[in-house]
Amino acid sequence: MIKTRMKDHNCGELNLNNIGEEVILSGWVATIRDLGGILFIELRDRSGFFQLVANPQINPDVHKTFEKVRSEYVITVKGKVTRRPEETYNEKYPTGQVEMYPESVEVLSEAKTLPFVLDDENVSEDVRLKYRYLDIRREAMKSKLLLRHNIVQAVRNYLNKLDFLEVETPILIKTTPEGARDYLVPSRVQEGKFYALPQSPQIFKQLLMVGGIERYYQIAKCFRDEDLRADRQPEFTQIDLEMSFVEQQDVIKVVEGLIVDAFKAAGVDVNPPFIQIPWQTAMDRFGSDKPDTRFGLELFDIGDIILQSNFDIVKNTLLNGGIVRGIKITGGAEFSRKDIDDITKLAVSFGAKALANIIYLEDGTAKSPVLKFVTEEQARQIQERADAKAGDIIFFVADKTKLVYDVMGRLRLHFGKSLNLIDETKHNLLWVVDFPMFEWSDEEGRYMAMHHPFTSPCIEDLEKLQSGDLGNVKSIAYDIVYNGTELGGGSVRIHSSEVQKAIFKALGLTEDEAKEKFGFMVNALQYGTPPHAGLAIGLDRLVALLARTDSIRDVIAFPKNSGAKDLMSDAPGEASLQQLRELHLKSTVQLHK
Ligand code: AMO
Ligand code: AMP
Repeated sequence: MIKTRMKDHNCGELNLNNIGEEVILSGWVATIRDLGGILFIELRDRSGFFQLVANPQINPDVHKTFEKVRSEYVITVKGKVTRRPEETYNEKYPTGQVEMYPESVEVLSEAKTLPFVLDDENVSEDVRLKYRYLDIRREAMKSKLLLRHNIVQAVRNYLNKLDFLEVETPILIKTTPEGARDYLVPSRVQEGKFYALPQSPQIFKQLLMVGGIERYYQIAKCFRDEDLRADRQPEFTQIDLEMSFVEQQDVIKVVEGLIVDAFKAAGVDVNPPFIQIPWQTAMDRFGSDKPDTRFGLELFDIGDIILQSNFDIVKNTLLNGGIVRGIKITGGAEFSRKDIDDITKLAVSFGAKALANIIYLEDGTAKSPVLKFVTEEQARQIQERADAKAGDIIFFVADKTKLVYDVMGRLRLHFGKSLNLIDETKHNLLWVVDFPMFEWSDEEGRYMAMHHPFTSPCIEDLEKLQSGDLGNVKSIAYDIVYNGTELGGGSVRIHSSEVQKAIFKALGLTEDEAKEKFGFMVNALQYGTPPHAGLAIGLDRLVALLARTDSIRDVIAFPKNSGAKDLMSDAPGEASLQQLRELHLKSTVQLHK
């Protein structure tokens, strides 16, 4: 440790081996107690706790000062480490067998009464975020920041050993093609022009490959103006990497090694290779492109059976290109009427128009509101398809493909949680591969890139790209999923300017628009571009999962709340009229009265 005039040992590291040693400690007064006139202070620093004692008979001067000391004062003490009387050993702390009767004490800083008791678990997150600097004093926060540090160091070590070069890329840029909304920064010097903050270093890391760097990484800040959730922040961090002269399997191998080391830093052993699931299979089996495979409840298709039935509304849905998927809950025949109503409401809140159910009774018959549309034989076929036994219930939804996957995937997760089917001790890592290149957007009325427009289509699908059969073009993209969370994603990139132009065209960009937005990128591809591929892992998500917390806010020192606000500094704040004028901006909101 760094020995200074104010501190030459850490509180939490002292033990019986230090008996008799003269040490200087500094830290915060965690607690102060008066037991029959003797004052006990629990001194806290980053490393842990250490007990100080002041007895008017033994160290009267120190006792006088201790009488004035309050919680969270910062003090420095000097004295000998002594053994505690054995009957007062505290097994809770590693330092529980030692203490100090300081010879001297100095108050370095006083403290007002804190707005909350540090180790009170019931403090609202808003209050903790407002006083984040106090919140960080808690062991729970410190240990998460330490874990984050250890994971980042493990990742850096791993990538350094593999000859990756850490290169910083700019924050004030033009725009990134990653689906979310950009944060804009107005330019003062260039009137009416704006920078965007990077949603990722995507373009720059590809240009580093054109520049011959071959292996790049960065612990990169990314900015996305999107609706926030527990696993999304407006600014977050990626472990971003890119490699030249590689194919999908090479990136996967490198990333699997990285995951092994990052998990090891958190004390978790995982064993690659991780399974690879084609996107279509993931959707069909789990209704999700980030399947949680810690439990079963896999979906099944009953479309062919329904098509033989008189279930006209569902049949029409199928004939119009929709799908139907079901889920079976073992023992679900015991659900009450209200249970089933609640589940139906949940499905409707997920976007379903209706949720059908069939209960298979102990007497071998089936009970269901849909029996008027399906024959007994068809109900039996459905039972077989679902592998349902007497006492089970099945639910199914028919609708547009995307909606059915979404509703059934979420319903599956709901049952996994509510029926306690998730084995929390599992560390299920898997790859989702063979993504579609494009995804239809009802909102935009056009196909959008599922990853980003620099993702390479599968070579065998180039013809479909030319003929406009965009829904069936696959891409060479891969996501890594951990226990149902998308940890990271990447792809093989386009390294031909012709293919790049074709993709822009398929995305509905005119040649002029493509040139205006990404012309420099298409240009660069024309000067000798190595085949390259890469991936980015969401660092915050990785740390949060390994710290076993649901919210990435818990592993970020100074996060924003769900309204994208920093409750501590009150950002975003107003700009003065003078600032707006300098930036050539006029506000449409009445900011200044
Ligand atoms: P992608 O957009 O999939 O890929 O992002 C990679 C990973 O970053 C994390 N992530 C987030 N974490 C917290 N808050 C957010 N708002 C947020 N958005 C994304 C996720 C995600 O898996 N340039 C490509 C990577 C590449 O192709 O190499 C990219 O950014 O864990
Ligand atoms: P109704 O005749 O409207 O009472 O519908 C009969 C049954 O069909 C109800 O149990 C509905 O839940 C079910 N149903 C209707 N539309 C769908 C759909 N799109 N997916 C699943 N079930 C449906």
